[in-house]
Amino acid sequence: MATIVGGLGLSHVPAIGGAIKRHAEHDPYWRPFFDGLPPIRRWLADTRPSVVVMFYNDHGLNFFLDKMPTFAIGAAPEYRNADEGWGLPVQRPFRGNPELSWHVIEHLVAQEFDITMCQEMLVDHAFTVPMQLLWPGIAEWPVAVVPIAINTVQHPLPSPGRCYKLGRAVGEALAQWTGKERVAIVGTGGLSHQLDGKRAGFINKEFDLYCLDALTNDIQALTQLTIPELVELSGTQGVELLNWIAMRGALPATVEKSHVSYHIPISNTAAASLLLTEPAAKSREQAA
Ligand code: DHB
Ligand code: FE
Repeated sequence: MATIVGGLGLSHVPAIGGAIKRHAEHDPYWRPFFDGLPPIRRWLADTRPSVVVMFYNDHGLNFFLDKMPTFAIGAAPEYRNADEGWGLPVQRPFRGNPELSWHVIEHLVAQEFDITMCQEMLVDHAFTVPMQLLWPGIAEWPVAVVPIAINTVQHPLPSPGRCYKLGRAVGEALAQWTGKERVAIVGTGGLSHQLDGKRAGFINKEFDLYCLDALTNDIQALTQLTIPELVELSGTQGVELLNWIAMRGALPATVEKSHVSYHIPISNTAAASLLLTEPAAKSREQAA
């Protein structure tokens, strides 16, 4: 059985990639955001995951409005990044784990999720920026990856309840896997933001802080929200919270908030990081 070492939520604003490119992490604008990351990096160094399962949303690099799967899973030996027009450096390829991907796909389809399986898949900033934040300046990515793209772009979107169930099914698949992989689950995007329309610039701190608690202690409340309610509360692009909800679904029923950071704004977005671990995991890791 694979071991789920913990769950991470991370914003994926392209401007963060720009700050990394310019080595601007210590500038006054960026510092409050980047200061939230060292505890997560220390945890990664301690727990040494071998695989990242990442719930994220593609913004038009691999899928466009003409063909938009609700849920798409990578089953490729390698995932490439490409220029999306943000001026970010193209990241080196990410190693896949096709055997594990196919195992997850088999389980999801058996559980009646009608997913799209991708033996080729480009990954955009929603995937690369979190990876850069987790492992800055590293010569080789130290993990294999299983990318899972959730449609947060073209309505109708999957409900929070459905995304939670998707995550739960991924967690079940990992529990049934015979390999010894150590898996970190990541959900990217959010928190509240709206890039377009009359409410462009909308941020909802109260709702964000509620979510950071509810993801830990009251996920059922978040799964009751409808998509129109989520848009109202978090903004049109804040619905990327769906990726965090799926991440939470893959974790054990009880988790603790090992680390959280929240900073307004990064570009147009309320930027956050969250680390959720199993309460017993700390002592088990220390004993090992
Ligand atoms: C921004 C945020 C996003 O989630 C994204 O995908 C693109 C841009 C922003 O705040 O600029
Ligand atoms: Fe986004």
